Amino acid sequence: MDDTEWDRIAAWRDERMGEDGDLWHRAIIDPVLLEVVGPVRGLRVLDLACGNGYLARRFAREGAARSVGVDGSAKTIAIARAREAADPRGVRFDRSDSSDLRQFPDGTFDLVVANMALMDIADAAGTVREVARLLDDGGRFVFSIGHPCFDTDRDSVWVVERELRDTGLSEARVWRKVSGYREEGAKPIPWHVSESVTMTTTSYRRTLSGYARLLRDAGLAITRLEEPAPRPEAIEKSVQGPFMVEIPLHLVVEAARSAPPPSGLSAVRAREGRRARSASRRSGRSRGRGSPRSGSARRRRGSGSVGRGSTSGS
Ligand SMILES: C[S@@+](CC[C@H](N)C(=O)[O-])C[C@H]1O[C@@H](n2cnc3c(N)ncnc32)[C@H](O)[C@@H]1O
Repeated sequence: MDDTEWDRIAAWRDERMGEDGDLWHRAIIDPVLLEVVGPVRGLRVLDLACGNGYLARRFAREGAARSVGVDGSAKTIAIARAREAADPRGVRFDRSDSSDLRQFPDGTFDLVVANMALMDIADAAGTVREVARLLDDGGRFVFSIGHPCFDTDRDSVWVVERELRDTGLSEARVWRKVSGYREEGAKPIPWHVSESVTMTTTSYRRTLSGYARLLRDAGLAITRLEEPAPRPEAIEKSVQGPFMVEIPLHLVVEAARSAPPPSGLSAVRAREGRRARSASRRSGRSRGRGSPRSGSARRRRGSGSVGRGSTSGS
């Protein structure tokens, strides 16, 4: 990743996000994401591409057994660590590329969350494979993204139509016009940091089926899909709020590790592996390391990622 792009807007984003998220996180995305995440008490949680770390810190406050945040931007991680130092919750923050988290052994986490980040990650295939490796048996990956069908950056716009009738103007009718849906690749995303200053980061546009393929190829099965609707605060305060009541701009996905049912010799090995892992847990040794999980071999990098971009601001 070009972390300097995110470094440049790290402080500006932190100011908007605070400890509760900005308007779109607070009143559109997070309520649904957190409902899908469910209770985190006792879980080992990774917040992938964590930004200022507000979610990782929330998970720690809510009783997660372990909460870790990683992000590729050095400035962003410095901000997350400063927040943690000011009000310690036991959260570890690492600066790491999401496709290379070799500091964590296989099966380290019960839950990996990536909030509004996968579309900003160049090597999404490598990242999702890494997520699958890091999830323990029964683990889940929950992420939110800009909606691949309705939020295609500058290639998608709102059209608000009102007809002139005898009785006056009709109620507004909202359309979402989308072009270039299948145009995958890197796109610049503008962030209007002030009246006169716009900065850009790179997003990667992917189709809905492209995301589904990434998960399937990594051995993750989609178990839930949600399209968040705005809460009253967003309807009131965001120009786009009332439009999103009709057409969603975000998608929340839950996926679970889905190793195909093993057969023959591999079934025996898988069973033995599971037994060895639970015996190791029972005897208090470190969990998960070196488990013979299919598809969780050490690092495999550099697979081609396809692209989709999305505005993730407010
Ligand atoms: C839109 S922000 C979302 C941050 C946070 N999850 C949130 O909801 O506020 C996208 C984040 O992805 C991070 N990012 C982009 N590419 C990355 C990569 N390859 N590895 C790790 N982090 C990455 C950026 O540094 C940025 O903090």
